[in-house]
Amino acid sequence: MSVLKIGVLASGRGSNLQALLDACAQRTIPAAVAVVLSDRPDAYALVRARQSNVPAYHVDPAAYTGKEQYERELVRLLQAHGVELVCLAGYMRLVGSVMLQAFPRRIMNIHPSLLPAFPGLHAQKQALDYGVRFAGCTVHFVDEGMDSGPIILQAVVPVLAGDDEEQLAARILEQEHIIYPRAVDLFARGKLRLEGRRVYILD
Ligand code: GAR
Repeated sequence: MSVLKIGVLASGRGSNLQALLDACAQRTIPAAVAVVLSDRPDAYALVRARQSNVPAYHVDPAAYTGKEQYERELVRLLQAHGVELVCLAGYMRLVGSVMLQAFPRRIMNIHPSLLPAFPGLHAQKQALDYGVRFAGCTVHFVDEGMDSGPIILQAVVPVLAGDDEEQLAARILEQEHIIYPRAVDLFARGKLRLEGRRVYILD
């Protein structure tokens, strides 16, 4: 089976990137991480990529005249590495039209809530403050909105009495590391069909 080339965008510690790197290395999924890009020079995701011998670049948004110029550079690097699917993994910026047009229906994101509940920052804290009994995570295709695109997979975890933000985030993260590689696997094997905002999983 041919291997899908993925490009990962990350702003921080990169544990979801690691889950994808591991799944690719173990051949659990027919994919390979071709390049990792970060908007932050100190992102640990860049270190993880290099440890796996994956090219990794810091692209500084402040070095460009605007978001479009910045995203043109991202697209240039992604295309130069033959990327077919872009995975946002803790990438803390809204994706703009340049990226969306370059990779139509080919950008995924993982978010630590059961969307459409609690989009945006500090999703786990939002869930705790709201008082929900169940929280979770979502992998979705990216559109022009904030955490608003068609949902591919979700996983649910209970909110336990006495949970603080850190405990809940850790329980959710464990599931993130399971469902993100699974979603990439489905995409790589051509098992996802998008109709409107519904994603069908073919068997
Ligand atoms: C993850 O919990 C991810 O779902 C979240 O940031 C964390 C990144 O962790 N993403 C968002 O909140 C995007 N809206 P990681 O760097 O260890 O993968």
